[in-house]
Amino acid sequence: MTDKPAESDCPRDPILRVVPRPADINANGHIFGGWVLSQMDIAGGIVAGRVAQGAVATVAIETMEFIAPILLRDIISLYAHVERRGRTSLAIRIEVIATRDGGRTEERVTEGVFTFVALDENHRPRALPPA
Ligand SMILES: CC(C)(COP(=O)(O)OP(=O)(O)OC[C@H]1O[C@@H](n2cnc3c(N)ncnc32)[C@H](O)[C@@H]1OP(=O)(O)O)[C@@H](O)C(=O)NCCC(=O)NCCS
Repeated sequence: MTDKPAESDCPRDPILRVVPRPADINANGHIFGGWVLSQMDIAGGIVAGRVAQGAVATVAIETMEFIAPILLRDIISLYAHVERRGRTSLAIRIEVIATRDGGRTEERVTEGVFTFVALDENHRPRALPPA
């Protein structure tokens, strides 16, 4: 892991917007952590795949913090940007924002850094294209 990302690698628009469904709720009335994690993996994979210009695989979750609960009827926005770039790998920081109360309230609910590796046709690491 070496280079810092360019400013243009940090989008201001969400990569994904999703709404949890009743089946995604746990016994506390909160959304399952595993559901959020999977949405983050999808959002991070979209950004990593764009930068890698091809297939990527998640190799590690460096950090994952559940800051506040996600509730039914929240709208979840996922923002993702390249935090570090290596030879074959990318660390992607993913932030999850919940919008609730009919759009009046926004809260940062989850944040994490996922590492993706660019893959070749043999499912082995491939050098990233030049930045
Ligand atoms: C991804 C995979 C091909 C990497 O293979 P590998 O033999 O570990 O490859 P390498 O040791 O050459 O490492 C490749 C890159 O990943 C990074 N990496 C490997 N393990 C890592 C870890 N645990 N945490 C962070 N980075 C890691 C290395 O630092 C290297 O980065 P760099 O080239 O930018 O320096 C292999 O681990 C794999 O197939 N894993 C399963 C992927 C998967 O199924 N994911 C879930 C579904 S997408």
